[in-house]
Amino acid sequence: MGPECTMGPGIILVLMALLHSGAAFLKSEAYFNETAALPCQFSNSQNLSLNELVIFWQYQQKLVLYEFYLGRENFNNVAPSYMYRTSFDQNSWTLRLHRAQIKDKGIYQCIIHHKKPTGLVSIHQKDSELSVFANFTEPEIVQMSNVTGNSGMNLTCSSGQGYPQAMKMYFLLKLENSTELEYDGVMQISQDNDTELYNISISSYVPFPDDMSNVTIFCVLKTKSMRSKDWQLSSKPFYKDQDHYQTHLGKRKTAHSKHLARVPSHHLPATHQSSWIIAVVLISVIFGCGLGCFLWKKKKKQQAVVSHKRETTRMEKENNEETEGRMNIHISERNDKEVQCVVQPYSLKMLHGFD
Ligand SMILES: *[C@@H]1O[C@H](CO)[C@@H](O)[C@H](O)[C@H]1NC(C)=O
Ligand SMILES: *[C@@H]1O[C@H](CO)[C@@H](O)[C@H](O)[C@H]1NC(C)=O
Ligand SMILES: *[C@@H]1O[C@H](CO)[C@@H](O)[C@H](O)[C@H]1NC(C)=O
Ligand SMILES: *[C@@H]1O[C@H](CO)[C@@H](O)[C@H](O)[C@H]1NC(C)=O
Ligand SMILES: *[C@@H]1O[C@H](CO)[C@@H](O)[C@H](O)[C@H]1NC(C)=O
Ligand SMILES: *[C@@H]1O[C@H](CO)[C@@H](O)[C@H](O)[C@H]1NC(C)=O
Ligand SMILES: *[C@@H]1O[C@H](CO)[C@@H](O)[C@H](O)[C@H]1NC(C)=O
Ligand SMILES: *[C@@H]1O[C@H](CO)[C@@H](O)[C@H](O)[C@H]1NC(C)=O
Ligand SMILES: *[C@@H]1O[C@H](CO)[C@@H](O)[C@H](O)[C@H]1NC(C)=O
Repeated sequence: MGPECTMGPGIILVLMALLHSGAAFLKSEAYFNETAALPCQFSNSQNLSLNELVIFWQYQQKLVLYEFYLGRENFNNVAPSYMYRTSFDQNSWTLRLHRAQIKDKGIYQCIIHHKKPTGLVSIHQKDSELSVFANFTEPEIVQMSNVTGNSGMNLTCSSGQGYPQAMKMYFLLKLENSTELEYDGVMQISQDNDTELYNISISSYVPFPDDMSNVTIFCVLKTKSMRSKDWQLSSKPFYKDQDHYQTHLGKRKTAHSKHLARVPSHHLPATHQSSWIIAVVLISVIFGCGLGCFLWKKKKKQQAVVSHKRETTRMEKENNEETEGRMNIHISERNDKEVQCVVQPYSLKMLHGFD
């Protein structure tokens, strides 16, 4: 291949770069309802007087925002939506647009004409692109129902009045052991017809990990901020209200109130509670059996006294040796008689719950 062939793509690249730089706009950013600056970047190297210039800004090549005509402001051509919203900074050749709206985002042109005896001659044009941002409000967590349960709850998180649209919203659970869990939810986005600002909310059933008394819940919103930076907003912490769910009693908190930080309750977890119930039942059975055996033996003793006979009594269940889950309790009596009560109230598996 000849050298001409290799040169071809190189020239195209250079041309593309030139085209690209020519098309690149000045970037301008403003917050919603605040003042935007629309630059013109006119150096005025010829030291032309404002009296011989026509300076104006237009939006999307249609609407005129502002006109400075031969030394005087001229509002005859200004679109109604920009009336009383602009001010021209003659030192920096910048137009300030007050109370910026989302609708105001887009391409602006600053155009300068020189009035010559022969007519108007265009001497300068600068395009700029305006982006408008609105900070979302701090996300707020609200409990959706009074339905109680230790395993989780239905939560909704909402934020609003933001722009551009949020990228992500989720619940973040921070556990005692500093583990963090994320829960997405059903996302709802609505846009105000007038301001074009977004409201966003997510609803989700947020499950709690087992045996976690201190769970802190946050709601996180991820969005884009100025200069294309990622921006993250977090709600105030929302605490899982342990007592509220365990006791079911006391004053109910309204759905809109935030739960305050609290010392984790020292309730025994559910498995321990059942262990205690088993223990109490077992002790009762053992005691009852012991008492029963004692009374029975006493009666026998009396019978023995009547019959003048010594005998050994034994009470035994048939499947004694076969069943795994059983408990034998030997009660020794002072008079050398051994009474064996075989108690099988619960399996050993249940007894393992003691730990
Ligand atoms: C815009 O700002 C003005 C005060 O500068 C305020 O009165 C007005 O409520 C704001 N509008 C919106 C939509 O935030
Ligand atoms: C520009 O022109 C003004 C009068 O129109 C004059 O006072 C000023 O000195 C000039 N400045 C320069 C840098 O030539
Ligand atoms: C928006 O949030 C940023 C970052 O916190 C802050 O610097 C800026 O002042 C906020 N702007 C408005 C209008 O609240
Ligand atoms: C929760 O219960 C209270 C009273 O019991 C009631 O006023 C409130 O509306 C309920 N909230 C929800 C979200 O159901
Ligand atoms: C959460 O919401 C779902 C669906 O609405 C419902 O079936 C469930 O009972 C709720 N659970 C709690 C703990 O509120
Ligand atoms: C923290 O606790 C959770 C729930 O019990 C468990 O799944 C997780 O592995 C624990 N993380 C660490 C680092 O111990
Ligand atoms: C957005 O939220 C605000 C405040 O909660 C509310 O006043 C407004 O009506 C909502 N707008 C939309 C479009 O849902
Ligand atoms: C917004 O506009 C849509 C369609 O243009 C309409 O259905 C809706 O009712 C409007 N909402 C409000 C709050 O005006
Ligand atoms: C809950 O745990 C967090 C750390 O995950 C800790 O900062 C906080 O003090 C704990 N709260 C209570 C009431 O123990």
